[in-house]
Amino acid sequence: MSDLTVIVLAAGGGTRMKSATAKVLHRVGGRSMVGHVLAAVRSLEPRRVVVVVGHGRDQVVPHVQQLLPEATIAVQETQEGTGHAVMVGYAAVPDAERRGTVVVASADTPLLRGESLQALVADHEAGERAVSILSGVVPDPTGYGRVLRDATGAVTGIVEQKDATEEQCAVAEINSGILAMDAAWLGGALPRLSNDNAAGEYYLTDTVALARGDGLAVGAHVLDDVIQTEGANDRVQLAALARVMNQRVLERWMREGVSVLDPETTWVESDVVLARDVTLLPGTQLLGATVVGEGAVVGPDTTLEDVEVGAGARVVRTHGQLSVVGEGAQVGPFAYLRPGTELGAGGKIGTFVETKNARIRAGAKVPHLSYVGDAEIGEGSNIGASTVFANYDGVAKHRTTIGRHVRTGSKNTFVAPVAVGDGAATGAGAVIREDVPPGALGLSAGPQRNLLGWVLRKRDGTAQADAARDAGATEG
Ligand code: UD1
Ligand code: CA
Repeated sequence: MSDLTVIVLAAGGGTRMKSATAKVLHRVGGRSMVGHVLAAVRSLEPRRVVVVVGHGRDQVVPHVQQLLPEATIAVQETQEGTGHAVMVGYAAVPDAERRGTVVVASADTPLLRGESLQALVADHEAGERAVSILSGVVPDPTGYGRVLRDATGAVTGIVEQKDATEEQCAVAEINSGILAMDAAWLGGALPRLSNDNAAGEYYLTDTVALARGDGLAVGAHVLDDVIQTEGANDRVQLAALARVMNQRVLERWMREGVSVLDPETTWVESDVVLARDVTLLPGTQLLGATVVGEGAVVGPDTTLEDVEVGAGARVVRTHGQLSVVGEGAQVGPFAYLRPGTELGAGGKIGTFVETKNARIRAGAKVPHLSYVGDAEIGEGSNIGASTVFANYDGVAKHRTTIGRHVRTGSKNTFVAPVAVGDGAATGAGAVIREDVPPGALGLSAGPQRNLLGWVLRKRDGTAQADAARDAGATEG
């Protein structure tokens, strides 16, 4: 690639977000806006990336350093315009590096594609220009800087809305805010910018006319889908960009062989990975580092965050976090997988089951109405309906271990710490406080007593007593 420096502008206030969070840290598709821009920038393989920070920099700097540790941070103490921001950013670039091309981008354009930056740079360098604008034609150019051209169509400059004549306002070609510039020329041009304009700011856009005045080539690379350079200034725009981003992500996965039944209600974040023949049913949200294996079916109405779903698994009406679902396993409907759940291949976590820190091995099943916390359930075991793994004694958490091929009765309580051996069984309603050896049947309930005629004696005159009498019951 070429000899590139990228300056990312992230010093603006973002007051219209009305937020305690800095604007460029607001998330779209699971990633911060600046995170998306840095991902696009990284694809240029630049020699140096300078991020200009100002407002909210105590939040922005650590975030940028985490995403791109090699980035250079430049602090713009007062925001005096995009030209001023670039002066501050360029001051952080050593003289020896001031060669090749400088690209300036904003940190609030999450839809920006790396390919568009690459195309701008290629066009700029092929044209041997001093300045190239990434531009686009939009239906409503209000608020943008307009690209001015002469009668031959050659670019002559950019005029900001505030400074534009009525005639210039009618121009539909806008400056996206992303420029490529000759590095050696830029160093001499920045000190020549003035703030003698309607905003009283140093406009980076004035570099276009300056270069032309210097007798150098300038031009524009016109983008087809200029929406990718749109910034989010408030939460309405943020939501609109998030929808576009989601659509883009879904279309990419559909082209890779994923079925999405209802793209309107299906949300997949940028870092999620889906295999071929995955089916996403309506109302599914796949977040964070979620990975879904080949042929798995997820949804409807399922939210998975950082969950790994194995090939051929089925996850129905489920909320899951930081969990693993094995190949061919079944989850839901109405399951809650809390962090640390690991379901083995062919296993089952069924209806109204909550799990946490639980390893449920291959072929093991917890089919109905249960809480499984801090537990290990061995291969092929079956947990009876309505079972509670009582992991908390009010002070500390303890683990329960169930062996292989165990059958536990319905409505058991496992009072941890406790262990049930391989091939053991427990009776219905058991409260298991002590270990059950392999092959044993653990029982805890006392023998049943029937008080004959009790209903006739105590509930005489009720439908219950009449029914009993009709069935032959007597008071004795
Ligand atoms: C700018 C362009 C305009 C273009 C538009 C596209 C100029 C003079 N105008 O206008 O032609 O159509 O973007 O969105 O460049 N920033 C700083 N420090 C500052 C000022 C701005 O870091 O002192 C950052 C902002 O945080 C933002 C970016 O620069 O990320 C653009 O600034 P903004 O004020 O939004 O510029 P616009 O008025 O939109
Ligand atoms: Ca803007």
